[in-house]
Amino acid sequence: MAELHADGLIEVLSRAQELEGHLSPALLRHVARRLRLPPSRVLGTASFYHLFRFTPPAAHSCLVCTGTACHVQGAAALLAALQREPLAQWGIELGTVRCVGTCSGAPLLVVDGRVWNHSSGATAVADLRRLMP
Ligand code: FES
Repeated sequence: MAELHADGLIEVLSRAQELEGHLSPALLRHVARRLRLPPSRVLGTASFYHLFRFTPPAAHSCLVCTGTACHVQGAAALLAALQREPLAQWGIELGTVRCVGTCSGAPLLVVDGRVWNHSSGATAVADLRRLMP
């Protein structure tokens, strides 16, 4: 049997996702073929780690910080307010993150990689609506 190239699989998957935005079935098959690994092994590795995604990212991302300082300052209420809105229809993917290191701005959002300090549900929703085309 041909030599298998499992070393660096995670790095290859990470770079592929960085280039393509997500790991499509075709991309996973390509990686398996090039590394001479069973497709099940490549998919199994990719699906084990939360950092890999199998669907294209939304146009915008909104992460609610749920770290301790943000939690104390109302992150749960902020997250709940955002979960009531149809963010996916607005092209916004909602997620959470644990402490981004700027706790003095709690509670905060990270929107498209930029920190929005001292966020509240009503203002955050209004500001996020402005991201819509
Ligand atoms: S807990 Fe939210 S930035 Fe630190």
